Amino acid sequence: TELDLSPDETMRVLDEARRLKSDRSRGVQLNSLAGKAVALYFEKPSVRTRVSFTLAARELGAEVVELGSHNTKVGHGEDLEDFAMVLNGYVHALVARVFGQSTLDTLAKRATMPVINALSDERHPCQALADVMTILERFGRIDDRVITFVGEGNNVATSLALLAASLGAEVRVASPVGYALPAWALAQTEGLAGKVVPCVDPRQAAEGAHVLVTDTWVSMGREGDAAALRAAFVDYRLDEALIARARPEAIVMHCLPAVRGEEITEAVMYGPRSAIWQEAENRLHVQKALMEYL
Ligand code: CP
Ligand code: NVA
Repeated sequence: TELDLSPDETMRVLDEARRLKSDRSRGVQLNSLAGKAVALYFEKPSVRTRVSFTLAARELGAEVVELGSHNTKVGHGEDLEDFAMVLNGYVHALVARVFGQSTLDTLAKRATMPVINALSDERHPCQALADVMTILERFGRIDDRVITFVGEGNNVATSLALLAASLGAEVRVASPVGYALPAWALAQTEGLAGKVVPCVDPRQAAEGAHVLVTDTWVSMGREGDAAALRAAFVDYRLDEALIARARPEAIVMHCLPAVRGEEITEAVMYGPRSAIWQEAENRLHVQKALMEYL
């Protein structure tokens, strides 16, 4: 999880990510993961996470093996714990995108190598690292910044809220009743330098914000509830009226993939406030730094 790194460790990873980004832009060849191998395991689809982890590992000299439900028998013929124990003998890290966080806990229980959360239903810590990197690039600091998330209090909101609050930010999470950050996530804010404020009204939450963030209304695995989700989130959209309530220098972020016209308008997504493409690119740099660190 994002809180497995202390604030100091997070900042070290982000400093390294910034260095790696600069090295890449100057064409510097690196081999800090030479001789290592990384397994990527996907229970759900992905563009950014797949491409960025694959390139992150390869550009640092590591081998990558991709696994998923389509080419393994994990969960339907091979036990998850056995899967982890076998991979221990082959690879130096396991990157896993899964449904339940408990799957990661099971993998981590048996793994002698680091297990990296590439998204679960509950958390998306690598996305949060990229988001914080983007905020630091745009503002130079994250403590004292107000970050407003508009949408469901699930994986992306939870990890961003906890990571940013651990670094001193105020994070407001505006969600319809029934879709708020879970109580366990709020309990984990105890003792953090910043704070997480759940609320219902997105307009109130956007007042004076430095950063506005949203995420899809229909997360992976929730397609069966799409109609109900679309009805519940109809007023939770990043549009120009909402942005007008934020600070004049406010930026907009979205982890992607986005459904234009639902959680974000086309004008905002491609407008001058958008840091979305920088945010997506930063996945590559933070994950390189994270794998080096681990
Ligand atoms: N933001 C993100 O994780 O994108 P993918 O689902 O495409 O990996
Ligand atoms: N909340 C979204 C994030 C996608 C990167 C989902 O879980 O599908």
